[in-house]
Amino acid sequence: MTQSLTLRRPDDWHLHLRDGAMLQGVLPETARHFGRAIIMPNLVPPVVTGAQAAAYRDRILAALPEGAAFEPLMTLYLTEDTDPADVRAAAESGLVKAVKLYPAGATTNSHSGVRNFDRVRGVLEVMAEIGLPMCVHGEVTTAEIDIFDREAVFIDTVLDPLRRATPGLRVVMEHITTEEGVAYARAGGPDLGATITTHHLIINRNHILVGGIKPHYYCLPVAKREKHRLALRAAATSGEGCFFLGTDSAPHVDALKEHACGCAGCFTATNTMSILAHVFEEEGALDRLEAFTSLNGPAFYRLPVNPGTIRLVKHETAHAYPSKIITEAGPVTVFDPGFPLFWGVA
Ligand code: DOR
Ligand code: ZN
Repeated sequence: MTQSLTLRRPDDWHLHLRDGAMLQGVLPETARHFGRAIIMPNLVPPVVTGAQAAAYRDRILAALPEGAAFEPLMTLYLTEDTDPADVRAAAESGLVKAVKLYPAGATTNSHSGVRNFDRVRGVLEVMAEIGLPMCVHGEVTTAEIDIFDREAVFIDTVLDPLRRATPGLRVVMEHITTEEGVAYARAGGPDLGATITTHHLIINRNHILVGGIKPHYYCLPVAKREKHRLALRAAATSGEGCFFLGTDSAPHVDALKEHACGCAGCFTATNTMSILAHVFEEEGALDRLEAFTSLNGPAFYRLPVNPGTIRLVKHETAHAYPSKIITEAGPVTVFDPGFPLFWGVA
């Protein structure tokens, strides 16, 4: 018997679309299934001002396939020189839905990020006043801190003090990867949310390193031990309102992934919904998939849920998806969960 499941059209609360030929190549992969996405601003140069976000939004809309109903939700890249008045205007006009905090040096194109939090105090105060969320890449960048500890240390030494110093600041802990992240998000009250990626529900650090290094499983924050993956699966499938999907789908051309100094990022836009249906079915939680992909995120961002629906169908034979997306910038490998997928979007 064919099983099927109808969901509110999902949103992706953390997405990298890039620009130019890459944008053109990868945007259809997201627009096919998702109604909206929070668009990461870590372009070169970064999207810092409201005017830059408006121009980037226009480039995304121009790259949309004919007839696609997809709304990019724009973000600003927080720097120590960000003008609080510009942030306020960009939010009040409806253009910008969040501000992204990259600690300087944490990941791809993060060198313009924040080193000294005293220098962004004015912006944070405006954001707290108007309820504009801050999306946080939650890793310390200090050389002495082990890469597998960087999220937990960030929560204790940066995020918690920052939240205490800025009452009312709404925060999304982006792509949490640890049980410490899950616990902190759960205890944070209505002004704290957390996104969870698709790939962190599938891989742990062994998948990256055992039997040869797998560059297409390398992302930041890097996947952790198995106990952390299990904590993320429990959180995502719990239905709790603070957890929602942010794929962090982050395309890099194969030449830069399969490299002596490979880029961080897993490209999951193509098969995310199939993988999530598989995971939620395994956890006996198909009835909570819609909360994770389509309801909890809009509630946190104070936006309506999408009007339309999508239908997931479980096929008798494995559901085929392309192993690579061919863009004019080069081929991009689609995340391989390591098992066949039977669910597909009808
Ligand atoms: O894996 C990642 N890739 N993590 C990030 O934080 C950035 C992203 C990218 O832009 O490639
Ligand atoms: Zn990201």
